[in-house]
Amino acid sequence: MAKVSRDMTPSARAGSLPASPIRRLAPLADAAKERGIHVHQLNIGQPDLAPPESITHLLERASSEELVYAPARGASDAVSAWQIYFSHHSVDLEREDLLITAGASEALLLALMATCDHGDDVLMPEPFYAPYKGLLAMTGLNAIPVPSGPDFGPPDADTVRQLVTPNTRAMLICSPSNPTGTVYGQNDLEKVGAVAVEHDFFLLSDETYREIVFDGPAAPSALAIPGLDDNAVVIDSVSKRFNVCGLRIGCLASRNRAVMDAALELAELRLAVPMIDQRAVVSALTSPRPYVDTVVEAYRERKDAVLSALGNIPGVVAHPPGGAFYVVAELPVDDAESFAAFLLSDVAVNDETVMLTPMSDFYATPGRGKQEVRIACVFDSETLTRAIRIVGEGLETYPGRTTI
Ligand SMILES: Cc1ncc(COP(=O)(O)O)c(C=O)c1O
Repeated sequence: MAKVSRDMTPSARAGSLPASPIRRLAPLADAAKERGIHVHQLNIGQPDLAPPESITHLLERASSEELVYAPARGASDAVSAWQIYFSHHSVDLEREDLLITAGASEALLLALMATCDHGDDVLMPEPFYAPYKGLLAMTGLNAIPVPSGPDFGPPDADTVRQLVTPNTRAMLICSPSNPTGTVYGQNDLEKVGAVAVEHDFFLLSDETYREIVFDGPAAPSALAIPGLDDNAVVIDSVSKRFNVCGLRIGCLASRNRAVMDAALELAELRLAVPMIDQRAVVSALTSPRPYVDTVVEAYRERKDAVLSALGNIPGVVAHPPGGAFYVVAELPVDDAESFAAFLLSDVAVNDETVMLTPMSDFYATPGRGKQEVRIACVFDSETLTRAIRIVGEGLETYPGRTTI
């Protein structure tokens, strides 16, 4: 056969992924490190807390017998552990309602692929976890931004209703939210859930930070809301609650059996999630407390330290989070990405600087988030306070300073 001449460039799919400011800033952080400057990486949600001892013990005892393919749904004892874990949150699930995944990231991908078709619309309250935009681009879906309620609160049900079209297939929420820390209460879930039922779309609920809530108990799960059995699909992860981001364990859960069957079929194509990782978290999942309580306390102290340090910088507006471990701050700057670059290139206090996440990437509406940054509270309070002071010093010399 004659050779067809082709342009050997990557796919249009890969090209459709949104540009990431973090990727653009990374070389500046590397250059600062090469100049001998310590960069406080407040830009990523990589926690510094030690994982529960039960996990490290189980990892030490891992055996070569576990170096086999796990069943696609998950190892039997691991699936049972997830059932027990959910029962602590008033969610009773059959084994078939669960699928163990490689973190929430794979659960998100499977949720989108099992519920939506190319070209469908997905409603997304903004700001949202930035990779949602890339996952939607990768699966050929359209992100339809939904304005948050006041102070980044859950969107109003009528606002959601007005944005529904015949093309709407799902709404993707996150509670507690990365980046805003917004927690959807029972009432909020009931309201958006009612719109999902009324208009036949899926409510995809990312509950990665479920326990990290500062006022009150863990965030309610969409699976605990009556009447949503066909609509609710939950995305979950052990990464943050047990400080084991590198284990890559999460899960997908829904009582919509057809969706779970479809997700399992898709999951069978990736064969399995590592057996050792699934088993390592069994004990932590069945008895998450008191460990998770210590995690919540650590983040409560840290976000208070960050809010207090931000409160000392003139012109900065910080938003107290209800949960998760990030703080969104509005800065008196022309462009948060330029400011983040300036911190890395031009600011050093005692050979230290800071990497922040500019937030335009967390919106689907062009131009939004230009003055906002996300701060991850992933260091002790003293370090965070010092890092925020450096941000304040940076603002004093930044040439693009404005008002909010
Ligand atoms: C809201 C949210 N969902 C999903 C993920 C992905 O988590 P995992 O490590 O479980 O893939 C993260 C990670 O930061 C997150 O913040």
